[in-house]
This record gives sequence, C-alpha cells and structure tokens, in this order.
Amino acid sequence: MQTLLALLRGRLTEVIGKAFPALAAEEKKADVAACPEEFGHYQCNSALRLAKLLGQNPRAIAQKIVDHLDDRATYRKVDIAGPGFINFTLSSPFLSERLNEQLKDPLLGAMPPHKRQKIVVDFSSPNIAKELHVGHIRSTIIGDCLARLFEFLKQDVLRLNHIGDWGTQFGMLITYMFDSAPAVLKGEETTDLVTLMNWYKAAKKRFDADPEFKKKSQFEVVRLQSGEKEAMKAWKIICDISRKGFQEIYDLMQVRLVERGESFYNPLLKEVVDELDRLGLVSVSDGAKCIFLEGFQNREGEPLPLIIQKSDGGYNYDTTDLATIRHRIFVEKADRIIIVTDSGQSLHFQMVIAAAIKAKWLDPKKVEVDHVGFGLVLGPDGKKFKTRSGETEKLIDLLTEAVDKAKEILIERKTEGSPTELAHLAKVLGIGAIKYADLSSHRTKDYTFSYDRMLRFEGNTAVFLLYAYVRINGIKRKVHVDMKQVLSKHHIDVQHPSEIALGVHLQRFGETLDVMARDLLPNRLTDYLYELAEKFNAFFRDCRVEGSPEEGSRLILCELTSRVLKQGLEILGLETVERM
Ligand code: ARG
Repeated sequence: MQTLLALLRGRLTEVIGKAFPALAAEEKKADVAACPEEFGHYQCNSALRLAKLLGQNPRAIAQKIVDHLDDRATYRKVDIAGPGFINFTLSSPFLSERLNEQLKDPLLGAMPPHKRQKIVVDFSSPNIAKELHVGHIRSTIIGDCLARLFEFLKQDVLRLNHIGDWGTQFGMLITYMFDSAPAVLKGEETTDLVTLMNWYKAAKKRFDADPEFKKKSQFEVVRLQSGEKEAMKAWKIICDISRKGFQEIYDLMQVRLVERGESFYNPLLKEVVDELDRLGLVSVSDGAKCIFLEGFQNREGEPLPLIIQKSDGGYNYDTTDLATIRHRIFVEKADRIIIVTDSGQSLHFQMVIAAAIKAKWLDPKKVEVDHVGFGLVLGPDGKKFKTRSGETEKLIDLLTEAVDKAKEILIERKTEGSPTELAHLAKVLGIGAIKYADLSSHRTKDYTFSYDRMLRFEGNTAVFLLYAYVRINGIKRKVHVDMKQVLSKHHIDVQHPSEIALGVHLQRFGETLDVMARDLLPNRLTDYLYELAEKFNAFFRDCRVEGSPEEGSRLILCELTSRVLKQGLEILGLETVERM
C-alpha cells in the first residue's frame, strides 16, 4: 500500500503537469509534506518554487494548481494560505477508506522499497576479553532496531557481530593465563567474562612493566598468527568464555546476531594490502604502509593516513575494516552497509569509505555505506557512565537491575498476577525501559542513564506506551464482543475531530518508517508512537466506544491502533503484554 504522502505527491505531480504542461518532468515533481494540524493535514509548497521558475505570482500559481485538482472527493477543504501554500484537509470518506485498507495490509500501510535490498547491519561488536562498555549495549539496541526495521520492510538483512576477536592483545592474555590460570587454558576449568577482563587488565600492566613478559607475549602473538595448535586452542577457549558472557546479554535483550569477528577477515589481509599496493594507493611512511586520502588531516593539520601495515609487518583495525568492506561488497553483495558504533569512530569509517571508493571497490551510487554513530552514555553526574563498582561490573547487572526496579514498582502499585506473571511483566518493562530510553533520545546526542526516568509511567517512556497498549486491549475486552465478527460486519468511519486526528496519525506509520529508513534515527519511531498513544487517549476521552451508535467503527479504530502500536514497539525491540 502506498503511503498517503506518496499518493498525494503522485497525484499533485500529475496536477502540476496538467496545469503547466511546458515544465520539465523534474520541475513538475510536487513538494508535499505533512503540515501543522491547525492548517490541515498535508501541504503542497510547489507554488513558491514554480513562481521563481516561471516569474509569476505564487498565489496565482497555487490557484491554478487548485483549479486543476480532479480528486476533490479526497479533500474536505483546500485552502491557499500565506504566500502560496496549498493546505489540504482530507475528507472523512477518503480517510476512512484508507484506514480500512490499512487494516487489511500486513505491513499496516508501510511501503517496502521497489527493489529488495541486501542490507548488512554491523552492530554490538564487543571485543573479546577487553572492556565491554555501555556503548556496546547502545550499539546493540540501535543496531537491533534498525535490523528489525528493514526486516519488517521485507529487506534481506544480515545482522553481523563484528567482534574484536583477533589482535596482539591475545598474546599477553595467553601469556598471563599460562602463568596464572593454566587449567583454564587447557580447558580443565572455566571462568567468566568479568574474570577474563580483569586478567586482561592485569596482563596489560605486566606487559608495560616487565620486559620478559613483553617478550613472551610477542612470541605468543607470532605463535597465534602462524596457527600454532596450542596457541589456537588457548585463543578459542578465551573466545568461548567471552562469547558465553555476550550471549547472556543477547538472550536477555532478545537480540539475534551472526558472529563474524575480525579473525574471519584475517586470512584476507595480505591479499588486500597487496591489491591496494598494486593499485598504487600505498605509500610508506616511517616504515608503515599507509593510504593518504584527500581531505583527512589530524589536529595539527598534517595529512592523516589509514595505516594498513605497521612497520613490524602487523595488520590492524584499519586493515581489517578495509578487508571487511571489500568482503561485504563483493562476497555478500550488499546494497547497503550500516555500521553502528560510537561517534568517536566516525573519522575512521569515513576514511575506510573514502579508501574503498578510491580503490574502486565501492561505487557510492550503487552501494550505500552508513556509519551510524551515537553519543556517550552519561551517568547522573553528567560524566561518562560507569557502573557502580567500576568498569568491570557485569553489564548484564545493568539490565537485571532495571528488571528488579520494574518489579518493585509493580509490587508498589499492587499489580495483580501470579509470581511467574509478575516476573515476566517486570522483564518486559525493565528491558523495554532500557531500550526505549536509549532509542527515544536523539542518537547522535549524549544520553543520560537514569532508571527512575526510564521507568516513569508518564511521558515518553516504554511504560507509558506499554500501558496504552494494554488499555486499548482492555477496551476491546470490556465491550465483550468477538473482534472477528466486528471486523466482518463493520468498517471504520471516522467523523469526530479526535477520530480524524487519530486516523491521520495512523496513516503516517509508513511515512515515519520511510524517514527512519533514510536517516536511521530510531527516535522518529518513538516520537511517532508517543504521539499515537496521546492521540488515542484524546480519542478515548472524547468519543464513547461501548454502547455508542459508532461502536463497531470505533472498536475497529481501537484494533488498528493496537496493531500499529504493537508493530511499532516490535520494531523498537519491545515486547508487549496483554494485561498489566
Ligand atoms: N569492536 C569495535 C569496538 O568495540 C567495534 C567494531 C565495529 N565494526 C567494525 N566493522 N569495525 O569499538
């Protein structure tokens, strides 16, 4: 189903074509946008642009467009306002028909792109044994939401967990563990991620202080790189322990990921460097192989290169990401690549993209690469968020604390239900609150973490929306009717201004997803859903459902609202409950 915006744009483009046949095709394209409620529902701004182009009065042009409208039944009102805006107010029959169509549409009025795209979403991507920080949780939440969006829009999505599972850090960790925890490396004992992270810290300290240890560690790196059996076994064991820790978090958050870490690209690195060399893109600086790209400078204004091979022959993050982008373009045949990390890495990815273009691997007209950056997570003190006992507290505790707090609130509010029901509800609310708080703040801004705020019942929170959802279903239950029968006997007919306002907003679900698919800002959808809940509340305040002459139509409007709300929450990664 076409969105209302696309439909109106198409129709008005035709109208402009008829009114001004001499215009070029590109010039006929109508500029249409949603408009503030007091003016109508949609607005066409083309008269102003055409006035400049044709050297005529914009209001006269607007009038000419209006005179050529041939779908008057679509509108209740068409006004020309100000310098030449055309404001459209939709008619009740037209809007009602659209809503009835939306109800039948499995995509609820969203419009998948014409061509199905292969979309790689690289997100979460923590590092083995190194610090796992809240930024990784943010990446997990945002990336999962974007993946869900494109899955809903019927795209071919590959969710990749690009974990940092390769590199020189393993040399010191293995060396340290051979000393302090040999049984773990042999697989006779096991441990958890937090212990591993503490060992990593200790290993790093020793590496910096003890030359003997440093030498051993470097030797261990060589053994690992040559695929020596014992070293590989130790590496695998370390990865497995980390993996278990990560998986615990993914399970609780209900996030699916395919692991394809840095080690996957390791065998391709030499080939990539050789190819870039052959292409003449590599210059040697201080013994390191570098790619210099126009427009990239460091703070001192000196050219800033990508370093693809260090003077000791080792490869690094830059090399791996070049191999990665190449693999995603040529092997995965991605149409779009989305990489979700903190904004601090934005320069790195800009350079990787620029290098891929220069190597002619990437044609930006054919493949879109988006680095989806995000701001820091701040604590209540306004500083970078740290869990209570410092950096190495299990991140999973951050999530379970939200669940515990949600449970306290449920008990305080004397929520009914068996212990299992309450535990489930607390999980839905707690995890939902964390995700929603993150997604609803503008992605590129820093965001302040606060349990109290995210678990509020009022305002733009998960709890408010989940509660709205439960309330709508409560209405349907209360009226004691079989929804299937209502749906077969009645249809939506919106008349009251609050019904119309709700109806128009329901129609904008697809438009909202369109915008979000372009700018990759999840708060587009949270804002939309918050407004939807508010519009529903206004409708329910102003319009009687049960026992009214309009009961059938209004129940179906409730049904459509509940479907859109549930689907929207699902794209955000939020579970819903039927009662609470
Ligand atoms: N492991 C990296 C980090 O923790 C993120 C990786 C993102 N993806 C990539 N292709 N580099 O910062």
